[in-house]
Amino acid sequence: MAAVLLDGKAIAQGVEDRVRDRVDALKAKGCIPGLMVILVGEDPASQTYVNNKEKACQRLGLRSRILRLPQSASQEELEEAIRAANEDSSVHGILVQLPLPKGLNEARALALILPGKDVDGFHDINAGRLMRGDKGVVACTPKGAMHMLKSAGISIAGKEAVVVGRSNIVGKPMAMLLLQENATVTMCHSRTQDLPAHTRQADILVVAIGRPRFITADMVKDGAVVVDVGMNRVDGKWCGDVDFGPVSERAAYITPVPGGVGKMTIAMLMENTVLAAEEAWAGQ
Ligand code: GUN
Repeated sequence: MAAVLLDGKAIAQGVEDRVRDRVDALKAKGCIPGLMVILVGEDPASQTYVNNKEKACQRLGLRSRILRLPQSASQEELEEAIRAANEDSSVHGILVQLPLPKGLNEARALALILPGKDVDGFHDINAGRLMRGDKGVVACTPKGAMHMLKSAGISIAGKEAVVVGRSNIVGKPMAMLLLQENATVTMCHSRTQDLPAHTRQADILVVAIGRPRFITADMVKDGAVVVDVGMNRVDGKWCGDVDFGPVSERAAYITPVPGGVGKMTIAMLMENTVLAAEEAWAGQ
């Protein structure tokens, strides 16, 4: 039986509708939520992502600014830009687009962003809060993936959840969120021995490794929930890390690519930015 599609477009639309209402409420009080995106260099994928973020801000009525620094920008220039955005009260959220060009120190740059303006949830303090199960800003992609599971009414407590990929942006925070919801979580990565033996145990399988169609049907349990975070360009078309056609014959639920988790990431970025603006406004 074919899996039920977890429709990122529709679910993200619902999130955006609620965010738009919150933007309107803030504006009525005299606060325009503002996002500053810092983009260093000319990486084409990053340019596309940043443009999509700007379009989302326009759709929902947020103020957006993109600061473009040249590929040759120094660490000092990047850090100066972050300090200026920290001090600018019209900027509620700051996002440094990753990856940074070689030679720039990502960890040092991210640590400079004020935790309250860190709408990516990548600051050590926000990552630490997530680890401890405390309230903080949660990274957009895993937050979006969790929202998809919840909005489909998928129960998580007590389930075997397997996360493939251990990045700081997706894999690690995703594992923490699943753990918070009382799943039994296994993290797999490039050095995992016998990956299929692990993935076949998964009631919930989250894949974020950046390898096109890597997860094949024989690696998936019947009736599993499959969340594909991959975004790969193959022969001019987008595809995920999951071999969508055959896997969707076996899974109970699956996220498509495109139109799945990717749509949620931007919606959650908008939500995190509005949340940061609400908190800044309340704290004035
Ligand atoms: N590059 C790829 N995904 C992301 C993301 O979620 N945030 C940032 N800042 N950069 C990225």
